[in-house]
Amino acid sequence: MRSSNIITITGAGSARTPALVGSLVKYKDRFPLKKIIFYDIDNERTSKMEDYIRLVLKTYCSETEVVFTTDPDIAYENTDFVFCQMRAGKNEMRSLDEKIPLKYGLVGQETCGPGGFAYGMRSLGAMIEMVNQVRKHSKDTWILNYTNPAAIVALGLDKVFPDDKRILNLCDQPYSLMRSFAKILGVEQKNLRATYFGLNHFGWFTGLKDINGKDYFEQLRTYLRDHDFRPYNAEQRSKSWLDTYLRVNKYMKFFDEYIPTTYLQYYFFPDEIVAESNPNYTRADEARDSREKEVWEICSKAVNAKSIDDVEIITNSVFGDLMVELAESIAYDLHSEFILMSRNNDIITNFSRDAIVEVAGTVGKDGAHPYVYGEIKPFYKGLMEAQHAYELLTVEAFLEKDYVKALQALTLNRTVINPEKAKAVLDDLMEHNKDYWYLEKKN
Ligand code: G6P
Ligand code: MN
Repeated sequence: MRSSNIITITGAGSARTPALVGSLVKYKDRFPLKKIIFYDIDNERTSKMEDYIRLVLKTYCSETEVVFTTDPDIAYENTDFVFCQMRAGKNEMRSLDEKIPLKYGLVGQETCGPGGFAYGMRSLGAMIEMVNQVRKHSKDTWILNYTNPAAIVALGLDKVFPDDKRILNLCDQPYSLMRSFAKILGVEQKNLRATYFGLNHFGWFTGLKDINGKDYFEQLRTYLRDHDFRPYNAEQRSKSWLDTYLRVNKYMKFFDEYIPTTYLQYYFFPDEIVAESNPNYTRADEARDSREKEVWEICSKAVNAKSIDDVEIITNSVFGDLMVELAESIAYDLHSEFILMSRNNDIITNFSRDAIVEVAGTVGKDGAHPYVYGEIKPFYKGLMEAQHAYELLTVEAFLEKDYVKALQALTLNRTVINPEKAKAVLDDLMEHNKDYWYLEKKN
């Protein structure tokens, strides 16, 4: 008999929470839950979803205790896994992260470029506080972090908590891409194994086989050279996401050795992306008017629902599936394979040992076991060195409140490069993030 687990969802006010609940229901026999604690520092958004979540869980996981709280001590007092998906500054700040850079002709995105920098500075403060709150109660709780920008969060947490082996940072992008590859190839995702290297939101697939060793990489590369790349769930994606996938094709017209992750588009085609952006209506607005609106509508139907039949169930969450599969692999020491973030050490042999790299590996009850990748070629190494320096200087700027390091970071970022623009956007972001972070101009 498998024992049951207690999980805490931190940042439960996210509109992604119902889909995560859908994954918890889907995996309930594989990963049974004794208790789920929905935690957010304010309950304005969670309260809109509470009836829906309670109804779904009462129907499908009747044994599971359900708690909603705004108190970190209740959230972390006795829990096995923290699924962290907080968004410091909520969607209002995401919107500014996307719109402020566009004023200067720079990419406006929540994780890449100056927007990612500003969000990184906000997330670092909130995430360090969260780890301290969890560790006040237990050193054994696993912290599975999905909070963005995961690259900066992971590096910052590694600097502040270097010996904490129970923090794992994850991103659904490689996992989600593999789902699309599987559909193109007509194989099951669970049977595919990838070779991959990079930094988070800055990586490449370099090989793809099935569990019997059959090699699919050449077939996929050939397909992507002359077919539009569409996500496996294209019907549910908005235009900006479909365009993002198509830029994988565009990238491969120049460099078709490896298959890039989608967010490399911001570093390779920033001018085109800026030109196509609407500075008054960015992804934050689009997400609010599509996903979020849909979630609020479905949840509102649960308020007076007599039974689950009156409500539509939200499922098919890539990120939810990934979170649950990761927790399952830890809880039952499964050594399932994932693409995950780890301190480099000897993984990429010709790269900074203290960088946080993203590679394939397994996960068990003692944490992540990344596979050694070996050497990377000069083109990728050059790109990654600059991006790592950007990430490192961002973390140091935050920890030391150092304005010059922040300016250096942004100047190194491939979406910026020009120090005049870097300074202008930094000053503007700093002004709008006063409630979250500040930097000192030291001599
Ligand atoms: C991808 C990234 C995530 C990011 C998400 C944003 O999945 O890997 O890190 O959070 O996109 O998606 P959204 O639909 O909110 O723009
Ligand atoms: Mn991600």
